[in-house]
Amino acid sequence: MYLFLLIKILFVVYCFYSYVSKLRKFSDHDPKGPSVLPVLGNLHQLGKSPHITLMNMTKTYGDVFKFWMGDVSIKFKTQHLQSLAITIKTLVSARDERWYHNRKLVANSFTKTKLRSTVAVMEKQSELFISMMSQFQKSGEPFSPMKYCKKYALNIIFSIVFADEIPYEEGVDEGRLGMLVGWIDQIFKVGGAGSLFDYITIIQPLFYGFKKFVIGTEMDPVYNFVAKIYDEHFETLDRNNPRDLLDVLIIDSEGKDRHGVIAVSIDFLLAGTDTSATTIEWFLLFMANNPDVQEKIGKELKEVVGVNGNVTLANRNNTPYLVAAIKETLRVRPVGPFGLPRQTRESILLNDQVFIPKGAQILINFYGLAHSEKHWSEPEKFQPERFMGASNEEKHADFYLPFSAGPRNCVGMNLANDELYLAISNIMSNFVVSSFDGKPIYDVEEYGLTIKPQPFLLKLDKRI
Ligand code: HEM
Repeated sequence: MYLFLLIKILFVVYCFYSYVSKLRKFSDHDPKGPSVLPVLGNLHQLGKSPHITLMNMTKTYGDVFKFWMGDVSIKFKTQHLQSLAITIKTLVSARDERWYHNRKLVANSFTKTKLRSTVAVMEKQSELFISMMSQFQKSGEPFSPMKYCKKYALNIIFSIVFADEIPYEEGVDEGRLGMLVGWIDQIFKVGGAGSLFDYITIIQPLFYGFKKFVIGTEMDPVYNFVAKIYDEHFETLDRNNPRDLLDVLIIDSEGKDRHGVIAVSIDFLLAGTDTSATTIEWFLLFMANNPDVQEKIGKELKEVVGVNGNVTLANRNNTPYLVAAIKETLRVRPVGPFGLPRQTRESILLNDQVFIPKGAQILINFYGLAHSEKHWSEPEKFQPERFMGASNEEKHADFYLPFSAGPRNCVGMNLANDELYLAISNIMSNFVVSSFDGKPIYDVEEYGLTIKPQPFLLKLDKRI
């Protein structure tokens, strides 16, 4: 009885404290933001598409504004990064020394020269992708691109990180691919939706403890999967001949950081699969919905490699319209709409106008930047022409940031650009894609850690 009363009193005190702390004023230059509720802050206002909700809020509160996710104060930025002096155990979540070390190691393995050896892997995977699509085209069956795009992207990461590949004969729903795709989907779904417990500090220890020790996390199966590969690699390691990125990481850590190396490998699996695969899906969707754009791309490719010719990375400079269409896909649907959150190490006065206190989380709305009417004409329209010509490229450079910017940007950007180009150019050289039922494909995104299209079906015709 007394215990129950005590819990009630503590809860009321907590609600009061949580409310008052959200109203605290730091300076005369505090960013504006919507009014808050105790405990929830502004969480209830996010809606199903937070990237759009928050983009629309800039109309009321300006380009930098304050938003409380439960007990966590987030400052949203929907403007050019300028020289914003923010700083930001895996590569993705590590900070400071640890991040710097891992990033240097990984970036070094991803330099242009080292990537050259992965071109053969990408070319092989792209060939397999095309031959599998040919079967759909010949049989006239509807083609659902999602899992095949994932197989393509996953096999490239598998080769680079684990010197392994999932055989093409293995169906997309079976074996390791089926398992991994299911696990990764779940992690992205849960990660993107977030949980009330991530933001309400008072209940976090209970929830995380329960999840970790009783029901397990969505990450557990992927962790166990990679841990097994780590152990096999460790047993068969040849220090003078690293086979893959995992060997490089084991050698660098002198075999003393099993957990850290597994975590970085998981980053690659997660960050490098869903992003590229979903971008290829979006591209195909936009092609089906914009046959005129697709026709121009087909014509350009025909002039460069002939009818159904094989396209390589060497052709990229001669296919500017296709390159522009890939960029436009990443602008209209930047798969990571917020990138990764940062935290201010010091308080700053941004542009002498907006004060951001030490310890605030910063999220940059890349989707908002790419859809702002201030920076783009008819931003909702799919229009590759806006990226044609050097002056246009330069004009958009500050607002087109699908891979983010600065030292913490996407470390896989070069690899991603290559794999996107290889798969997409060869698909376009071989097929004309259209919606299976002849109607425009629904192009509104589903929000998660990556923004995805709803599953859709394509009709494939041979390009002649
Ligand atoms: C279309 C494809 C891709 C897109 C749009 C994309 C986008 C992004 C974005 C927006 C970030 C956050 C950066 C920030 O917050 O500043 C990021 C980080 C990252 N990406 Fe990518 N990415 C793609 C493909 C890849 C690939 C293929 C890999 C791996 C091979 C990869 C590995 C990573 C890693 C490891 C990070 C964390 C970097 C760090 O914290 O230092 N990404 N990516």
